Amino acid sequence: MANEDIFKKIIAHCKEYGFIFPGSEIYDGLGAVYDYGQNGAELKNNIRQYWWKAMVQMNENIVGLDAAIFMHPKTWEASGHVSAFHDPLIDNKDSKKRYRADQLIEDHLQKIEDKIEKEVEKAAGRFGQDFNEQHFRETSPRVTENMKKYEELKSRYILASENEDLNEIRQIIIDNNIVCPISGTANWTDVRQFNLMFSTQLGSVSEEANTIYLRPETAQGIFVNFLNVQKTGRMKIPFGIAQTGKAFRNEIVARQWIMRMREFEQMEMQYFIRPGTEMEWYEYWKEKRMKWHKALGMGDDKYRFHDHDKLAHYANAAADIEFRFPIGFKEVEGIHSRTDFDLGNHEKFSGKKMQYFDPDTNETYTPYVIETSIGLDRMFFSVIANGYAEEKVEREGSAKEERVVLKLPPALAPVKLAVLPLTRKDGLPDKAREIMDRLKFDFNCQYEEKDSIGRRYRRQDAIGTPFCITIDHQSLEDNTVTIRYRDSMEQDRVPIEQLPKIMEEKVSMKKLLELL
Ligand code: GAP
Repeated sequence: MANEDIFKKIIAHCKEYGFIFPGSEIYDGLGAVYDYGQNGAELKNNIRQYWWKAMVQMNENIVGLDAAIFMHPKTWEASGHVSAFHDPLIDNKDSKKRYRADQLIEDHLQKIEDKIEKEVEKAAGRFGQDFNEQHFRETSPRVTENMKKYEELKSRYILASENEDLNEIRQIIIDNNIVCPISGTANWTDVRQFNLMFSTQLGSVSEEANTIYLRPETAQGIFVNFLNVQKTGRMKIPFGIAQTGKAFRNEIVARQWIMRMREFEQMEMQYFIRPGTEMEWYEYWKEKRMKWHKALGMGDDKYRFHDHDKLAHYANAAADIEFRFPIGFKEVEGIHSRTDFDLGNHEKFSGKKMQYFDPDTNETYTPYVIETSIGLDRMFFSVIANGYAEEKVEREGSAKEERVVLKLPPALAPVKLAVLPLTRKDGLPDKAREIMDRLKFDFNCQYEEKDSIGRRYRRQDAIGTPFCITIDHQSLEDNTVTIRYRDSMEQDRVPIEQLPKIMEEKVSMKKLLELL
């Protein structure tokens, strides 16, 4: 199945099974805003909890914070977001469609890269075992020609971005004959900068009101509270402050479902360190965060690092952790070395000292910061996309049928176990309720008695429930039940008495955290 088709199926599945709905759907939706349904909210909570426990509970020198979304307007001047948090936009005069100029160029670069990879793939098929990939890449005229084109375009683009040269960015689009996908023409306007922050008014009387912004990143709530937390928590450098919460960006082109939303959630941690130690800690957090991702068992080959060519206004080094989505490798998390940019600027703009006295070195300094910043929604997408599978399965006494199953990591699954009495009679529901009442304190359980057991299994597969507990007539006689495993569909008979321990073993987050 083509990757685009899988992507569409995942979106449809998430809507059908209560994971993600378009925002304000009864009014035909709101651009790039989504609501999480009953199962989506559970899955999102579990991912958030996995992150929080891994960052805060597992690290003695990292503490949490929950800062306000609204912040003093000077915050955003100090952070550089008022002057530098913008994207270059361009309009096509024929289709009247608006695009991000940088994305048009990046998509064009991607196309050249795809052409090269296709050539290599074709040649690998042609030559079989004798294929020498490196030699082919170095000598094939088509590959070398495209490589040259790619390198030239990329360095021209990086230079133009670094200089914020909007005329040159437009010229690159014209010179490379990049056309609007709708009109097919290169009839472009000038490139303009567009600030991504949403603004609103504080106060009820408009003349007196102040323009404030919805935060475009959660990080600033941490920076402005750096000394509050350090002093009240008696924190010693190195230490971290972690926070999860909503962030808002007026994306010019919101696309690819929950990949690029206008309201989304971040999970960020700022790690305060001694100046001069930043590269060491940068590498440390890159590795540590990658380990967190890989511990989920979704496949080590699904991840890669991508070093930034173009650094954000606050960073002196930055890398993304990318995940292989059905739409290609995309950023899920960023690790940034932010130097003393933020604390230094807050000191300048507020006039308040943002410094730390280091008792180990007897020095006073503005700490440097390593940031780990992950998008909860993108993480959600990666878990769902990785788990989505369509399988042909054999059912006893019937022909093959198809099942759609979400093979989610059990610790993250919205429902951990379904409790299913085989029939609605003979006291089986009462026995099932007894089991529910025992397990519901520790696990999110679902009780279902409607429809055949096969249909109930399918419904649980579709929402990713790792275990189904079936209560049958034998259960009344010997206090045993069957556990049916989502992925293998195999079943085991076990004593009811052992269920809490078995479940704890199989779905606990502790097992994940132990891998870190
Ligand atoms: N404080 C640093 C910062 O905000 P960023 O790379 O702009 O860095 C961090 O954002 C993460 O937030 C990204 O890796 C991505 O997962 C998520 N993110 C950013 N913009 C997003 C959007 N429009 N929709 C969904 N997630 C987004």
